[in-house]
Amino acid sequence: MVKRMIGSQSTSLPNKTRAANPIAVLVVHGPNLNLLGEREPEVYGHTRLADIDKELKQLGRELEMKVETFQSNSEGAIVDRIQSARGKSDVLLLNPGAYTHTSVAIRDAILAVDIPVIEVHLSNVYRREAFRHHSTIADVAHGRIMGFGAESYSLALRAARTIVETSRKQVD
Ligand code: DQA
Repeated sequence: MVKRMIGSQSTSLPNKTRAANPIAVLVVHGPNLNLLGEREPEVYGHTRLADIDKELKQLGRELEMKVETFQSNSEGAIVDRIQSARGKSDVLLLNPGAYTHTSVAIRDAILAVDIPVIEVHLSNVYRREAFRHHSTIADVAHGRIMGFGAESYSLALRAARTIVETSRKQVD
């Protein structure tokens, strides 16, 4: 029932409108996520980052969303990439990795670009060490999805579409 309601809400934009103005999504992966599949598989699973990106692009095509992906181990590069999304991306999916717990610079970049952000984590950080319980971006994110392994990203992409379509309807 709930699923149907969400489905009918998110497909209510005329197809022509969505095709002419596809939702632009930027996915940003932070440090060490380039090693997914090899790195602590008992925590992060066996799926490689390239496969997550490929699946997101495929799902994006199905949902008529344009998905771009980016990974960096460097905080400054992540700030630069978020800044360059200004005026170009409708929504960001952001897994800042360990910078989640420390980075004021990434938090400030989110505030500066004024693009809705979904904070994504493969693991449920609340089931882990106490230092992972704090996020510098949680209160400036639209929402947070965590604990579903690689599926956290596809859940976030679906949520991203709802966020953007809802805000486009409010403007119309
Ligand atoms: C992570 C959780 C962080 O605490 C950790 O530093 C990561 C990955 C996750 O996706 O579960 O690198 O963001």
